[in-house]
Amino acid sequence: MSSQTDMRHQVTIRDLQSKKQAGEKIVCLTAYDVSFARLLDRTGVDVVLVGDSLGMVIQGYETTLPVEMEAMVYHTCNVARGLQRSLLVADMPFLSFTSVKQALKNAGLLMQRGGAQMVKLEGGGDQAEIVHALTSQGVPVCAHLGLQPQRVHKIGGYRVQGRDQETASQMLNDALALQQAGADLMLLECVPQVLAAEITDKLSIPVIGIGAGGNCDGQILVLYDILDISFGIRPKFSKNFLQQTGDIEQAVKAYVDAVKSGEFPAAEHSFE
Ligand code: KIV
Repeated sequence: MSSQTDMRHQVTIRDLQSKKQAGEKIVCLTAYDVSFARLLDRTGVDVVLVGDSLGMVIQGYETTLPVEMEAMVYHTCNVARGLQRSLLVADMPFLSFTSVKQALKNAGLLMQRGGAQMVKLEGGGDQAEIVHALTSQGVPVCAHLGLQPQRVHKIGGYRVQGRDQETASQMLNDALALQQAGADLMLLECVPQVLAAEITDKLSIPVIGIGAGGNCDGQILVLYDILDISFGIRPKFSKNFLQQTGDIEQAVKAYVDAVKSGEFPAAEHSFE
C-alpha cells in the first residue's frame, strides 16, 4: 500500500503486515458506537478496537473485569455498522477464554453476531493453546502482553511491566510463543520503550503499542482519553488531542497524523 491512504479499501491483516514491512505506522483507536465508528473510519484509522475498556468509559466500572460477552457483542455490532474501511477487532472479556471450547464459542459470537474481523485476548505464552485453537479455525487473533488490565488484582495495580531482566526476557519469550501459536497482531501495553522496540524487531507480526514508545509498528489509545473525557487521571502515555483542535473530528485527524508522522508518542508519553 502506498503512504497515501486509500479510503475505499477495506484494511486487511495483509495490509497491516505490508505496513510493518514498509515501515508505515499503523493507526488504531477504540470505539464503542456507530457514530464514532463512522468518524474513525473516515479519518483514516486503520484498526478500530472495541476494547473491554468500555467497562470503564461506557459502563462506569472501576476495572474491565465486570464486562460480559453480551456487552462486547452489543457494542461490536454497533461499531461494525459504522465501518467500511477500518479493520474491526473486539476484545475477549475477562474469563471468556478459559478453555478452547469456551474461547471458540465466544470468539464465534464476536465474529458471527458482532461482525468482528479479529479478536484480542490478554495473556502470555500460557494462552498459546487457545491462540492456536482459534487461529487454526480461521479466527484472527491479536495477543496482548505487558500490562494486562484483566489481571489488575493479580498484579496489584496498573503498573509498567517488563522493567527487570527476568520479566523482560519472559515477555519476549511470550511474544515469540504467541506468534508461533498463530497470533496475527501483538499489542504491548505499558512496556519500557527499549523492550517494546526489541520485541517489535524480533516479531514478524505487527506490534501495536500503548505506552510502549515510538518504535512499535503502530499505536493505539482509548478514544475518550484523546478527547480527554475519561474520568479519573489521564494516563501518562495518552495525549489530549482535542485541546489543540477544539473539534472532535479534527482531534482524531490530528492523532492519525501524529501517529503516521511518528510525532506521537513523544518521550514524555513513554516509559524507561
Ligand atoms: O480495552 C482496551 O481498550 C484496550 C486498550 C489497550 C486499548 O485493550
